Amino acid sequence: MKVVPLDAPLGARIEGICWQDATRPEVAAALNKALGEYLLVVVPGQPMTAPLMRDFASAFGKPRVQLLRYKRNNEVPEVSTMVSTLMADGTTDKTALRSEDWHTDDSYMAVPAKATLLHNMETPSHGGRTWFCNMHTVYEALPESTRKRIDGKRAIHAYDTARARNRPSPRTAQEIAETPDVEHPLVRTHPDTGRKALYLNFNRLDRILGIDRAESDALLDELAAEARKPKHHFGHQWTVGDCVVWDNRATMHRVDVDYPVGERRIMQRVLIEGDKPF
Ligand SMILES: [Fe+2]
Repeated sequence: MKVVPLDAPLGARIEGICWQDATRPEVAAALNKALGEYLLVVVPGQPMTAPLMRDFASAFGKPRVQLLRYKRNNEVPEVSTMVSTLMADGTTDKTALRSEDWHTDDSYMAVPAKATLLHNMETPSHGGRTWFCNMHTVYEALPESTRKRIDGKRAIHAYDTARARNRPSPRTAQEIAETPDVEHPLVRTHPDTGRKALYLNFNRLDRILGIDRAESDALLDELAAEARKPKHHFGHQWTVGDCVVWDNRATMHRVDVDYPVGERRIMQRVLIEGDKPF
């Protein structure tokens, strides 16, 4: 197995393995080491069946089911099917459009996923790049005075917030009951490295606690402006069969919704169980 660092603020490409190799402890250890070092790994290969993807994902921790039942694979519930095809009749899945802005998966949960695997099954002829942002370098680029203002602050994350540009998929009554608003630190410490990362989510972070709404909105806009700078970003152009794995604790991601209407864009996703942010 070869780890090739990308010419980008995060990410490495893995070469010379097939999916089944990841069940070997030494390969799993090497994959996790690369993920820890680069926050994101791109593993090229052939499209995986749902059971094979669950087994591959297990190299990174314990796969867990996602909130929205309608996306779960019938046979392997830990694997979700994410359809982001742009439908001419306007029936495009809402979650696909919402992914257009920067977010980290699952931050509306008390214990968000530590990592996400996204695996490309079908891809449009062009466009649809997924972008990733290094939230360690975003935090470190903030002026000292801003870092002093935000260290120790906590924030409310919700399934939806008026601050988000697009609305999320509707939830069933059971799913609503499972997702009360939660509180997280605004700056979180990576449990493996001790390095600090700004913990933002443009779709879920509603307000910073301890200051009024107007001040919170202004401060969140200021933090977002740093995260939007291209110097913190890497954009992945998908090839069918690619699996990208990222560390949700220190990254955000978004998709370019710039691909042709009607061309199928289908991913399989697995979330890996995490720890409570601190
Ligand atoms: Fe996402």
